[in-house]
Amino acid sequence: MTAKKTASRKEAATPRVGHPLREQQAPDDVQGVSAERHSSMGLVETKRRVADHGEVFTPAWMVKAMLDLVKGETERIDSRFLEPACGSGNFLVKILQRKLVAVELKFGQSDFEKQHYALLALMCSYGIELLPDNIAECRANMLEIFTDYLKIKEWDYLYRAAYYVLSQNLVHGDALTMRAHDGQPITFAEWGYLGKGKFQRRDFRFDVLTGSSAFSAEGSLFAHLGKHEIFTPAKTYPPMAVSELATGFAREARALAPEEKA
Ligand SMILES: C[S@@+](CC[C@H](N)C(=O)[O-])C[C@H]1O[C@@H](n2cnc3c(N)ncnc32)[C@H](O)[C@@H]1O
Repeated sequence: MTAKKTASRKEAATPRVGHPLREQQAPDDVQGVSAERHSSMGLVETKRRVADHGEVFTPAWMVKAMLDLVKGETERIDSRFLEPACGSGNFLVKILQRKLVAVELKFGQSDFEKQHYALLALMCSYGIELLPDNIAECRANMLEIFTDYLKIKEWDYLYRAAYYVLSQNLVHGDALTMRAHDGQPITFAEWGYLGKGKFQRRDFRFDVLTGSSAFSAEGSLFAHLGKHEIFTPAKTYPPMAVSELATGFAREARALAPEEKA
């Protein structure tokens, strides 16, 4: 796979227009303060956003250096990554690109396998972001990497399934309170590929998952506690084909639009 352009990420250049997800971007200052772009490197969006949200984007060279620290995991299709302050996806996009290289190497000969394992790679990428325009941009950037790799268009089931997965995995919310923008506890989908075109989904609450580290620390007095709750999904779904995942597309597109425009 060739290295993809990621010009719309905020470490790079100007956002592109015309993408169905990108059209949901809010004005670039959600506080209502006029935008003041002042970084020729594109690492800073506005001074107000830096002050309010610590919004400084990581340059590509640093993303690469950090990901190289866990290189093997970034090149494993089903390793799971969560970026709890994902911005427009500077880390997640690079991770997805590395995973897709692995997909190409392993499954490039078969369209069926390639498509399903590429979707699995996407399914293993998670993010949380406080600002609506950033999360919309992050979803759009990830979708673009995925669809460019598979050369698929909007009417394709795979495109729609990917859109749906991104709407589930990239959460508009607060990583500190562990609540989504609507006040509900953040829940993450654990996706697995069962083979033959079927995916399994189980949902887990983020606050329960993070609590698990306190319980499972080696040698901890509490090591035996809490595991039941941690490994009990909040919801389990029947196995789903890509076409079934794709049915979430229209629902999510409708649901996301007003929120992201707010
Ligand atoms: C320093 S930027 C980093 C963005 C991206 N990870 C990168 O390295 O380019 C931090 C991002 O975290 C978001 N953020 C700040 N507080 C947050 C919170 N409590 N929960 C989720 N996201 C948050 C900001 O809106 C901003 O987009």
